[in-house]
Amino acid sequence: MAAFNTEKVLSVHHWTDTLFSFTATRDPGFRFTSGQFAMIGLEVDGRPLLRAYSMCSAHHEENLEFFSIKVASGALTSRLQHLQVGDKILVGRKPTGTLIQDNLLPGNTLYMLGTGTGLAPFVSIIKDPDTYERYDRLVLVHGCRAIAELGYGELIVNRLHEDEFLGDLVRQKLLYYPTVTREPFRNMGRVTTLLETGKLEADLGLPALNRESDRVMLCGSPEMLHDLTVFLKGREFVEGNHSEAGHFVIEKAFVEK
Ligand code: A2P
Repeated sequence: MAAFNTEKVLSVHHWTDTLFSFTATRDPGFRFTSGQFAMIGLEVDGRPLLRAYSMCSAHHEENLEFFSIKVASGALTSRLQHLQVGDKILVGRKPTGTLIQDNLLPGNTLYMLGTGTGLAPFVSIIKDPDTYERYDRLVLVHGCRAIAELGYGELIVNRLHEDEFLGDLVRQKLLYYPTVTREPFRNMGRVTTLLETGKLEADLGLPALNRESDRVMLCGSPEMLHDLTVFLKGREFVEGNHSEAGHFVIEKAFVEK
C-alpha cells in the first residue's frame, strides 16, 4: 500500500504575503487525533517532496485543512503557495504528534500557546468537542509579528462562536488572546513576556498560571519552545509525552521553508 493518499485541493486562502491556508479532500480511512500532524506535500519530478504539517481540521471533519507559511526559497512552500483548486497533494497515511490530550494530566484550564503557524494544531483542538468536555476553560494565545497574521485564527474563533453545535460551549469556555509584537495592537508583546509579567492572566481575569490546575500546549519556533519550556520547568511543570502524561506538551511549528 502506498505511504500517501492523493487528495484534491478544494479551496485556498492567502492571508498575507507569507501565510496561506487551504482545504483538501480527506480519504475516509485517514484517521487522526485533533492536534496531530502528517507529512504532506507534492510530487516533484516524480518524487514526493514532503514536510510535516499539523491538521487544522478536527478529527471528525470531512475535509482536511492546513495553515502554511510561504518562503520563496523553500523547496516545498515556494511550490505549495501556488496551489489552485483541483490540484493534487500528497498526504502521508501515518499521522502522529505530541499535542494530544492523553499526554496531559487532567486539569481545569488548558492553555494553548502558539506563535506564527504554530496556531495550526490548536485550530483542530478548539474544534473538538472532547476538549470542552475535559476542561472548564480553554485559553488560546496566538502571537504574531503583525495584525494581518492573526486573520486566520480570528476567522476560526469567530466561526466557532456561531457554530450550531459547539457555539454555546465556545462562548462559555474559550478565551482567545491574539497578541502582536511589531505594530500597535490591543494586546502586545511576546507570549513569554506576557506570562513572565502575569499580564496574560491579569488581562483574562484568571489566576496566575499554576501546575495544580493548568495544562499547557506549546507550538512555535525552536526558540519560543525553549524559552517557554524553561519558564514552565521553573514553575515545576513536568513535560508530558506518549509514555507519561505531564503538565505541558510541546511541538515544533514544523515548516520553516
Ligand atoms: P518578535 O517580533 O519579538 O520576534 P516568527 O514569525 O519569528 O516565528 O515570530 C512569531 C511571533 O513569535 C512574533 O510575535 C515573535 O516576536 C514571537 N517570538 C519570537 N521568538 C520568540 C520566543 N523566543 N518566545 C516567544 N515569542 C517569540
